[in-house]
Amino acid sequence: MSHSNRERGILRYRWWTRLNHWTVAISFVLLVLSGLALFHPFFWSLTGLFGGPIMTRAWHPFIGVFMTLFFVLLAIPLFKDSLIKRYDIQWLKQINDVLSNRDERLPPVGKNNAGQKLVYWIMLGCVPILLVTGIIIWRPYFAEGMPIWLLRFSVMVHAYTAFLAIITLVIHIYSGIWVKGSIRAMVQGRVSKAWAKHHHSLWYDEVMKERKQQPAAKDDSSARPQ
Ligand code: HEM
Repeated sequence: MSHSNRERGILRYRWWTRLNHWTVAISFVLLVLSGLALFHPFFWSLTGLFGGPIMTRAWHPFIGVFMTLFFVLLAIPLFKDSLIKRYDIQWLKQINDVLSNRDERLPPVGKNNAGQKLVYWIMLGCVPILLVTGIIIWRPYFAEGMPIWLLRFSVMVHAYTAFLAIITLVIHIYSGIWVKGSIRAMVQGRVSKAWAKHHHSLWYDEVMKERKQQPAAKDDSSARPQ
């Protein structure tokens, strides 16, 4: 059992991380669609997806709370591998090499590269801000007791933060499609050894070292998946 799993490559994301990720992804897209419909008449037709304008308005904040809960579950196991290291700064300085596919010039990176870490930190910043400002302006439950200046301020911050989160999401999806094998990693959980070595060689070395130290370890206990 352990042997056959190992031959299938390296486990990158455990099933609950994948489930949390896709739950967040789907709810986030629903939030963007319903949020845009409420934001500007240009997107008004999107209210049709949610059963009309009243339902769109009613659903949006509940989906937001739901998404936040799953985002927290997603963010906890990813925390350690998202801390910025020295080689991440170097990687960012060489962003031109990243965008031109000159991978061989890049410094070796760990489980996540600096771009992925930035996605993590930006979303970790945006989600609580969206939650707090969203609750403040949530009628009929909370908004009634709030001073008008706070409501105005919160609506504005909510919109700007959503804008940043949407841009980040677009870049995130684009990178996921661009780096072949990433989507499979988040769907099936596994990557090939060649993929790990090419894109995240420090992580690959670490996994291989641990495997050598525990040759009889069952399944993926030595692969340090999230
Ligand atoms: C809606 C479509 C989405 C797609 C297609 C998508 C795709 C992916 C893929 C392929 C990975 C794995 C990357 C790798 O292993 O190298 C990943 C990781 C991740 N995703 Fe998403 N994702 C989506 C939405 C979201 C949303 C809405 C959030 C957060 C609000 C999010 C947060 C993350 C985080 C924190 C990671 C781990 C670090 C990273 O690889 O950036 N994703 N996603």
